[in-house]
Amino acid sequence: EAGGRVCVRAKTLTMETLNPQVKAVEYAVRGPIVIKAGEIERILQEGGKKPFTEVIKANIGDAHAMGQQPITFLRQVVALCTFPELLDSPSFPEDAKRRAQRILQGCGGRSLGSYSASQGVDCIRQDIAAYIEQRDQGVPSNWENIFLTTGASDGIVSILRLLVSGEGRARTGVMIPIPQYPLYSAAIAELGAVQVNYYLDEDNCWALDVHELHRAYQAAKQHCQPRVLCIINPGNPTGQVQSKKCIEDVLHFAYEENLFVMADEVYQENVYAPDCEFHSFKKVLYEMGPEYFNSVELASFHSTSKGYTGECGFRGGFMEIVNLDPEVKAQLVKLLSVRLCPPVAGQAAMDVIVNPPQPDEPSFAQFHKEKASVLGALADKAKLTEQILSAVPGIKCNPVQGAMYAFPQIFIPPRAVEEAKALGMQPDMLYCLRLLEETGICVVPGSGFGQREGTYHFRMTILPSPEKLKVLLEKVRDFHIKFLKENSALEEPQCRVQA
Ligand SMILES: Cc1ncc(COP(=O)(O)O)c(C=O)c1O
Repeated sequence: EAGGRVCVRAKTLTMETLNPQVKAVEYAVRGPIVIKAGEIERILQEGGKKPFTEVIKANIGDAHAMGQQPITFLRQVVALCTFPELLDSPSFPEDAKRRAQRILQGCGGRSLGSYSASQGVDCIRQDIAAYIEQRDQGVPSNWENIFLTTGASDGIVSILRLLVSGEGRARTGVMIPIPQYPLYSAAIAELGAVQVNYYLDEDNCWALDVHELHRAYQAAKQHCQPRVLCIINPGNPTGQVQSKKCIEDVLHFAYEENLFVMADEVYQENVYAPDCEFHSFKKVLYEMGPEYFNSVELASFHSTSKGYTGECGFRGGFMEIVNLDPEVKAQLVKLLSVRLCPPVAGQAAMDVIVNPPQPDEPSFAQFHKEKASVLGALADKAKLTEQILSAVPGIKCNPVQGAMYAFPQIFIPPRAVEEAKALGMQPDMLYCLRLLEETGICVVPGSGFGQREGTYHFRMTILPSPEKLKVLLEKVRDFHIKFLKENSALEEPQCRVQA
């Protein structure tokens, strides 16, 4: 106020002046359905009436939020690092104390509260390299190629940032699977890169078909310069686990077309199907021989957020990068150093994952029991989800071979499709909104991940407790049947999902 007059100053930052690349970003996992779910929860808390008593959130891969208990050993090590006086406490096992002391020795001033080197604490990087060598049955891993990150997300975006350049037809194209985890489309939009879709084969359990990669690559070359190939294995949202042969084909393609490969392997511990096994891109590349192993540029990503630990809030993760041009590597270190370092508590959590208790150590039995219990429950829930969903008329659900999600295809009757169009929303958004309003179940429309034109899906996590998951699946089944009936489609011959 000046001299009694109210000065209305225009804002500098408005929707008109906002960075347009920020406006282009979308992230369905925390999108409108989830906001609505929060509103409904508040109504219930305030005593409002709904046809259900609680909202069941199956929208995000956040295990602890869904009740998964932390792995004791991991929390012990992080607690000891955070409050070193506990190192004198008899309530903590010796192996946890040894791990904590080692980590603290690597920290400035022996404190978790100091910045680390931008690439992370040296001894943690060494533990990660040793873990990779063991995981990959002896394939060498150099700890200088390991970078700690703020969750896998930060590593993925940092690498994409290096890769985006050029104008017009020379602009970087980034090949991503469809359906995809929307971090990829969001980062591509924000960086102004060109999104190049390759479609996973739903009829073949969401397998990656190398012919489809060729098709997408050739089509994209007309308008951009594809430089990057992103792979998510095991898949999110699709839950498939790639075969070794498929990975070989993909790497061969990347070699032929000179593509930088980004292998998102955050679900490497989450494999449930007895006939599936996790193969790292790095190991397969090694087995293809030195011609490949010494040339294909590959960044692979891991995280504390998934696996059997589910420690999303620690924001721990790492990436291993092989065959990166040494000068570019220096540029990457420079870029990372601007942000100082990833959270050091997250680095400590990552260290426990790559350096868990060994059979001759005091914490082994409990650690092993807790790990097996989490992974066993996830495997049971993966099976239950597929079984219940695939028995529903108008729903088709592939086996959940790995990761933490099912991505069933849902038949949406033409009448409901028309209704959604009239409301200006995607048909699967309408479906998920109705599901939420009628049953309290919160899942994410397939349109947020990408899907073939004319097909509809939703993504749900398998993280709720077995009892809750069963309730959730039965409610989805009953809702779906009612939805078909209401749209008078149950008897229609097209009440089938697309082949
Ligand atoms: C495939 C995939 N990559 C990366 C991430 C990011 O995980 P974070 O940043 O928590 O490590 C997620 C999280 O759900 C994911 O599903």
